[in-house]
Amino acid sequence: MKELVLASGNAGKLAEFRAILQGYEILSPKDLELDFDVEETGNTFYDNALIKAKALYEMCNLPALADDSGLCVKALNGAPGVFSARYSGGTDADNNAKLLDVMKNIAERSAYFESCIVYYDGKNIIDVTGRTHGVITDTPKGSGGFGYDPLFLSDDLGKTFGEASEEEKNEVSHRARALAALSEKLKQISDK
Ligand code: IMP
Repeated sequence: MKELVLASGNAGKLAEFRAILQGYEILSPKDLELDFDVEETGNTFYDNALIKAKALYEMCNLPALADDSGLCVKALNGAPGVFSARYSGGTDADNNAKLLDVMKNIAERSAYFESCIVYYDGKNIIDVTGRTHGVITDTPKGSGGFGYDPLFLSDDLGKTFGEASEEEKNEVSHRARALAALSEKLKQISDK
């Protein structure tokens, strides 16, 4: 089986990549005993994913995958965007509180999550993007998921990602959509 190394130590992400990219052995930096920690200095999800995929490839000489994702709010010109994880400088709950505060007098509440995944094998770069659309609620709803999930009322599901089961979220999530696109593109390079 062809090996791919994913630039993440997040167990949930590894499981999602393994479930969708069948026919590949998805390894983590930890599986290779690598201490992988790269600063995300890019201005776009693509830039950050590419920085991580290239750094990981240089460390292990195996085809590398990296993703970067975040929440983009229309009325905030796409913020928090690449700063989603660091929006308040605190925890997920602090980020959510900040977002609700910033949006307290804003009626236009549409937003999307975006995930960009980059594959790099020293020669080929493949990039894919997945998006999922919704609106930002006035109060947190549900305790599932992570990050901004309790504030994201999904257009597809009619409930927040915090209220959705893991299976429901994985049907429509930005990451699942990017992974489905990646799976198709990887088939094309392996057919060549
Ligand atoms: P990363 O791509 O894992 O670095 O995620 C960046 C940040 O975007 C996370 O820390 C969350 O704040 C936010 N984010 C990305 N995907 C999701 C999601 O599926 N639900 C909620 N928040 C997310």
